[in-house]
Amino acid sequence: MAKMWAGRTEGLLNKDADDFNSSVSFDKRMYRQDIRGSVAHAEMLAKQGIITDGDAEKIIGGLKSILSDIESGSLNICDAEDVHMFVEEQLIERIGDAGKKLHTARSRNDQVALDLRMYLKDECAEISSLIKSLLSVIAKKAEENTDAVMPGYTHLQRAQPVTFAQHLLAYGEMFRRDAGRLKDAVARMNFSPLGSCALAGTTYDTDRGFVAEKLGFDGISANSMDGVSDRDFCVELLSAFSLIMMHLSRFAEEIILWTSWEFRFIELSDEFTTGSSIMPQKKNSDMAELIRGKTGRVYGDLMGTLTMLKGLPLAYNKDMQEDKESVFDGADTVKKCLKVFVPMLESAKVLKANMYAAAKKGFINATDLADYLAKKGVPFRTAYKIVGELVGRCVVENKTLEDLTPEEYKSINPAFDTDLYDAINLENCVNRRVSEGGTGADSVQKQISDLKEFINNEKNFY
Ligand code: ARG
Repeated sequence: MAKMWAGRTEGLLNKDADDFNSSVSFDKRMYRQDIRGSVAHAEMLAKQGIITDGDAEKIIGGLKSILSDIESGSLNICDAEDVHMFVEEQLIERIGDAGKKLHTARSRNDQVALDLRMYLKDECAEISSLIKSLLSVIAKKAEENTDAVMPGYTHLQRAQPVTFAQHLLAYGEMFRRDAGRLKDAVARMNFSPLGSCALAGTTYDTDRGFVAEKLGFDGISANSMDGVSDRDFCVELLSAFSLIMMHLSRFAEEIILWTSWEFRFIELSDEFTTGSSIMPQKKNSDMAELIRGKTGRVYGDLMGTLTMLKGLPLAYNKDMQEDKESVFDGADTVKKCLKVFVPMLESAKVLKANMYAAAKKGFINATDLADYLAKKGVPFRTAYKIVGELVGRCVVENKTLEDLTPEEYKSINPAFDTDLYDAINLENCVNRRVSEGGTGADSVQKQISDLKEFINNEKNFY
């Protein structure tokens, strides 16, 4: 069939070239936005006297019938160059000549830029609400685990005792920033490009602000050439998605470690683990591994989009059709991962006793012992050295710092007294970390209430 744009040419494409050129298989998911945008455009054309009210009514009626047929499943979006052509062709088939007036003062270039922004705003709303659920689970789990002492790590070596609540709240901070990034990105992209037309604007007396307002935008794009060629919002969103994935991936990596026999800090619910086809004993953390793995594809979506855009002269170029598969894949992947991650975390059992047992080993109270000596007047560097030597001795003798007797301590430095055992008691090590943001009880409580306040304030989410 000849293309709707047949004119200069006969519009008959080579079959492979036609398939190659077509984006309908992946842009059909924007049909709702496309139709909403067209309804607003038709209303504007009538309001401005560019088309008659009667034609606008026919157009809007036709568009609504197309929408309901797609939603009911009786109309399949296919056999078109893209979703925009599909809807317009359908409209003309249904209402005839009036349908041919819809594309007045509009181009597919501003139409696709509009649809994509509208579609991605909807996606951001969904992703923001998933992040909100994740933050709620983090707050709940943190509250349940303010007493769960575990080793904190640096270099994956046991370093200092923390609580599991403090560890979880670190992720709370990351996902709070992610919610903020989505909101910021939407605020910057929330300007309607419709009316930019092909690239230079139009000779018709259009009202771009009217369309923008109808469609929930904060305003209109200021330059028509930028309006049709800007895809910064895809890049910004993909980088926000990449950060969400990076955070999920680090969390997933820890879950994979914590569920191993080497750690046994948590146990995942059976619903989120798999078995092996050969090893009967296995309970694998496949979901967490997949989330870690899928992070790479979202980074790929970001890199692909940046690279696709870097050499494009103004204004629209067909290269830009490639924006959609990447940004859709990024959004789909983030949603899928969050939908699994949130209930997986919520249903995970925290094995506090195992965390505590691990905290008992590894000399994670050594800094506290050095601080103890320093507070008794020994210069910190000297104290550090003394404790380092004591740890070395314990390793050789297979002892902990708690096992050494008061006499042994005193023989090394007279500043040691029996209150040293109190100083190196694990709970005390945690709770005496009273500095703001530290793992001490008050700080953790404050972080939990701040997080809850953040979650309950609608303004923090798009
Ligand atoms: N399917 C196209 C895209 O996604 C729509 C815009 C086409 N514009 C054009 N001048 N060929 O970018």
